[in-house]
This record gives sequence, structure tokens and C-alpha cells, in this order.
Amino acid sequence: MRPVLILMDPQGRKYPVALEESMVRVRGLGTFEAAKLLASVGRKVSVGDRSFLVLAASSRDLRDTMDRGPQTFAHKDLASVLFEADIGAGARVVEAGSGSGALTVALARAVRPNGHVVSYDVREESLAVARGNVERADLAGIVEFRQADVRQGIPERGVDAVILDLPDPWAAVPAAWEALRACGHLVTFSPNMEQVKETVAAVRGLPFVGVRTVEVIEREMEVREVGVRPSFAALGHTGYLTFARKVLDKF
Ligand SMILES: C[S@@+](CC[C@H](N)C(=O)[O-])C[C@H]1O[C@@H](n2cnc3c(N)ncnc32)[C@H](O)[C@@H]1O
Repeated sequence: MRPVLILMDPQGRKYPVALEESMVRVRGLGTFEAAKLLASVGRKVSVGDRSFLVLAASSRDLRDTMDRGPQTFAHKDLASVLFEADIGAGARVVEAGSGSGALTVALARAVRPNGHVVSYDVREESLAVARGNVERADLAGIVEFRQADVRQGIPERGVDAVILDLPDPWAAVPAAWEALRACGHLVTFSPNMEQVKETVAAVRGLPFVGVRTVEVIEREMEVREVGVRPSFAALGHTGYLTFARKVLDKF
């Protein structure tokens, strides 16, 4: 596997590196010798009078440096999806829509090396941004992108999880039920309560159990010599996650 590297400057700014050739261009910084960067993971490199730490990209680094199209999944929501939907190595997952691919990258990293992610979007522009981010993260072999409206049906069968991040996820709940294996996980993400109400009504109309909706709230701490306290940065709202598991019979 080609390593994915990040250069971090003293202010914590991150620059993604794509190691495709012997010399690599890093957006906004210039050209670097690939072999030198690879030999410097965890160390400092200098370019003129600037210095950078060479880091092996973490999930957070990839999420922080990706190209943005539509609104992307936040870190805290990504982590919750992976835990709640049991997404690990070997899992087969369907998601819609691809958007900017923030969730796609997190899913693909979790299911590798032998899992698979099918990512649907109706918009070619979204698919292009998501595909670029997946390729930059060296995950193209794990993800298959398809242009389709999942409300019309999801042809996959027996998948471990379906994740819907669409304006009207409720309209794709029947298709998700068909695609899931017994006991597979459905996850939907919506910014507004009205969407949650409609989605939960659709889920309750089908054989699903464990239906829960949560808002994940993360509060960052500022740890200083004096005055350790929560950050003054606003606790921004992202959205609500609804979880459910497919069963074959209803009580
Ligand atoms: C908010 S974005 C998804 C963001 C993505 N989860 C991420 O983390 O980057 C919603 C995407 O859903 C797509 N979409 C909307 N309705 C759809 C549908 N019925 N089927 C497939 N994709 C759809 C939109 O084109 C848009 O790109």
C-alpha cells in the first residue's frame, strides 16, 4: 500500500502529500523528494527557512485535509457510526450520498483490507470530489462509486450496514431494508428534527429493532499552564444520528 503522509507546520496547519512519483508536489509548499519524506516519518524536514513534521496520515488528518463539496460528516459523528454499526475489517457497507467522501474515507479505512464500500450519489460533481478524496487516501481499491438515486432501490443484498446521509433518508429506508442482511445496521444522518421524525416513522413501519436517535456532542478542552477549561469555540450543531437493526420478523 502506498503510504499517505501529511506535513504539519509549527502552527499545526496540515498539508496532504500524495506519494505518486519520486518527486511530489505539496499544494501551497512546493516540491519534495518522495524518498526523503518516507525516510522522515515522525521527523522534522526543512524547506528553505520553514520546517515541517512528517506524519503518517491519521483518520483525523485525512478528514481535515480533504477537498470539500457538500456538507461533510464531522469527526465525532464518523466515530459514532463506526462503533454503532459494527464497521470493521471485512465489512460490506453501502452509503448514500457520497457528498465529499468524508464518510466514505472513514468507512473504507475501517473495512480494509478485505471489506468493500459501495457509495451512491445522484450528482456527478459530488462523485468527482469524493472519488478524488478516496484516491488521495489510497483507498480506491476498497470503494466503488455509483451514480444512482437510492430511493429507487439499492441492488446490493446481504450487506452489513447501510448509511444514509440524504435530505430525505426516509424515502430510502425500504431500499436499505432490502439491501441489509438479517441483523445488519441502518444509520441515517439528518440536521433537522423534522427529518428525524419522518425517518423514524419509516423505520418503525418495517422490521427493525434497536431504533435510537442521538446527537453526539463533543466539547474541546483548552489545556494551558493556567486556566484549563472548555474551549470558548461554539458547540456547533451538526445533526442527529438514527440507528436501527434489520430483523426478519416483527413482534
Ligand atoms: C450532505 S451530502 C453527503 C456528505 C457525505 N456523507 C460526506 O461525509 O462527505 C448529501 C449528498 O447526497 C446526495 N443525494 C441526495 N439525494 C440522493 C439520493 N436520493 N440518492 C443518492 N444520493 C443523493 C447529494 O447529491 C449530496 O452529494
